[in-house]
Amino acid sequence: MVGEVRRVSAGDGARLREVRLAALAEAPGAFWQTWEAEAARPDDDWRRRAARNAAGHAHATFLLEHDGEPVGMVDVHQPSLVPEFRELAAMWVAPAMRATGAADLLVSAAVAWARSVGAIGVRLWVEIRNVPAQRMYRRHGFTQVGSPSPDRENPGGKVYLLMVLAVDPDASASRAFLARANGPWTDESG
Ligand SMILES: CC(C)(COP(=O)(O)OP(=O)(O)OC[C@H]1O[C@@H](n2cnc3c(N)ncnc32)[C@H](O)[C@@H]1OP(=O)(O)O)[C@@H](O)C(=O)NCCC(=O)NCCS
Repeated sequence: MVGEVRRVSAGDGARLREVRLAALAEAPGAFWQTWEAEAARPDDDWRRRAARNAAGHAHATFLLEHDGEPVGMVDVHQPSLVPEFRELAAMWVAPAMRATGAADLLVSAAVAWARSVGAIGVRLWVEIRNVPAQRMYRRHGFTQVGSPSPDRENPGGKVYLLMVLAVDPDASASRAFLARANGPWTDESG
């Protein structure tokens, strides 16, 4: 059993904090946010995030649970500058659950949700050295778009690749699709 995936509930603030901090502690090289900044957020923030991501078309978090324990997660949100897309972020599977198909369950849930709310595509940024994640996203049909983007706030630090999956075949046939997908990144995790 690879675990079960469900959308976060409004009362899952503490569980969301637990799994997000576990991800940032275990894989700091994979994420833009830091453990220190996320750990400093007050409990109210986590309650608000869980409630926001539990319902509606703009934000969703999916939790992976095994024997009732949170062992993975993925966030999806509507980027304000390209609202016809959804952006996948904060993807993590605990090491003990890797290479089991658990990551596929999370990505499939995120993409199915994006489709269900009418997104034309799903985009994400992945660190250039993060080969396992890139391979996993490619297996789901994501392709690299544009050139690698260094983190402007930390010169010499992380470099990100933009990857995109078309969800609506008509919209993705348009020339504007990739240009829109390549729209600027803004931190909307909070
Ligand atoms: C990214 C992540 C969710 C993938 O989960 P997973 O269970 O490892 O994924 P899968 O086993 O389904 O796929 C991993 C792919 O990387 C490959 N891989 C695994 N370890 C590797 C390594 N050290 N070097 C190169 N490739 C590797 C696997 O063979 C597989 O590729 P394939 O399907 O083409 O054979 C998980 O590794 C993770 O949580 N990593 C830390 C956080 C992270 O990187 N998040 C993504 C942020 S964008």
